[in-house]
Amino acid sequence: MKITIGNQYDAELILVSKDLASDAYGDIVDQLKGKNLFKGEEGEVYSYVNLSDDKTLVFLGLGEEEKVDEEILRLAAFKGAKELSKLKVKKASVSLKKHAKLCYKKSTKAFAEGLYHAEYRFDKYLSKKQEFHLEEVSFGLLEGKEEKVLPGLKEMEHLMDGVFLTRNLINEPAITLTPVELAKRAKEALEPLGVEVEILDRAACEALNMKAFLAVAKGSTNEPRGIIMRYKGGQDEAPLGLVGKGVTFDTGGYSIKPGPSMYTMNGDMGGSGAVIGAMKAIALNKLEKNVTAVVLATDNVISGDAYVPGDVVGSMLGKTIEIHSTDAEGRLTLADAVYYAITHENVVEVVDVATLTGACVVALGAFNTGAFTNNEELLDKIKTAAKEAGEPLWQLPLSKEYKNLIKGDRGDLKNTGGRWGGASTAAAFIEEFVEGKPWVHLDIAGTSDIESARGYLPKGATGMPVKTLYYYVKGENKGGC
Ligand code: BES
Ligand code: MN
Ligand code: ZN
Repeated sequence: MKITIGNQYDAELILVSKDLASDAYGDIVDQLKGKNLFKGEEGEVYSYVNLSDDKTLVFLGLGEEEKVDEEILRLAAFKGAKELSKLKVKKASVSLKKHAKLCYKKSTKAFAEGLYHAEYRFDKYLSKKQEFHLEEVSFGLLEGKEEKVLPGLKEMEHLMDGVFLTRNLINEPAITLTPVELAKRAKEALEPLGVEVEILDRAACEALNMKAFLAVAKGSTNEPRGIIMRYKGGQDEAPLGLVGKGVTFDTGGYSIKPGPSMYTMNGDMGGSGAVIGAMKAIALNKLEKNVTAVVLATDNVISGDAYVPGDVVGSMLGKTIEIHSTDAEGRLTLADAVYYAITHENVVEVVDVATLTGACVVALGAFNTGAFTNNEELLDKIKTAAKEAGEPLWQLPLSKEYKNLIKGDRGDLKNTGGRWGGASTAAAFIEEFVEGKPWVHLDIAGTSDIESARGYLPKGATGMPVKTLYYYVKGENKGGC
């Protein structure tokens, strides 16, 4: 689906605030309101089809004008696009005005985003595909605003390209998306955009002493991969660091997961999916920043070679780790990944993204990403970015009590901190490897892959928090206007 500028089609989306007289089709809106068919409430959709002249009007309620925000516009656009597609409309127009709370650029971007969300499907393995009919939506803009709005629309198109890449990687089953395949896809997506992609094989990881990561990878016949992605859009400054958990399937290892909780573990590379998608969006939009992303990809499976509980393993940093659960594998891979990013890629700060703990899902459900930091200033930047993105996150604690829980007995550290506060002890473990660098850890176990569709997010991979990472790297705090 493409977005164009103009206002030329017979099918139209009409945005209606509940408490504002509608300029377009005002008399129809009044009649609908009079008959209680459509009131302009937030989320309401009413379609009006005239078969004789091909006129299709889809009214979209926004609720009270004063309260219209980006999220309301995203959802209205999403519903409008779904409705048009259901009516088999191929081309439609929409007149976009400025809303009270938002600048014009932000309103139009949010509306475009919602339209793109409606188009997403992961149907490559379905013999019968459900069709999406809408091919073009043409935006009627306010006089003289084109120049301001067009770059924003292009930016959103690119950003959603990144989000869709992330979703596709996460939705891909593990039988296809092995570590080797993940590395190949990162290369294919990013190299043409000028991102340098270096792939590390098992021997290269051994040479780097990535002992914690390799302990997890030990049990698998699928070869592990390190994926290092370097985007240079800035000057000579040291890069920002992104790290993503890349466990392509998590059985739990010998601390095996029960069947139902194993089923979705192809999504355990959600962090790496997000980081790769973000790199795509960053490169497509040519952000003037340097960013290096690091993924250490492996699956976590059982075999005669697999690591077992009670093992004591090393790490690239040199700290030794007692394995209390082979299912706490993510933090082992991240320990070496963040340490590598800091010591070998010279990043100034690190944001790691990981489907790390069930405890985070218990705490926050599927609605908020859990955020942890050793540097409130960096987290503030991430919070600002998350707001702009419409990707909610919530800070969870990381104080010394949690750090005490992961102190080891036979080794320096243990890889689990017991039953309680599991999201925080996992974060505390990663912090042991960040060498005091500004660091934020995002636990996306609840938000990366969801059980049922919600708003404009599909069931399965959501693409969170690609937009947050993008706006963080972009680093513009003027509110995007
Ligand atoms: N990949 C899981 C976490 C997870 C759970 C992601 C649910 C998505 C949905 C992680 O590797 C894991 O198994 N964590 C354990 C840690 C525990 C053994 C300390 C957990 O959360 O149970
Ligand atoms: Mn696990
Ligand atoms: Zn895992």
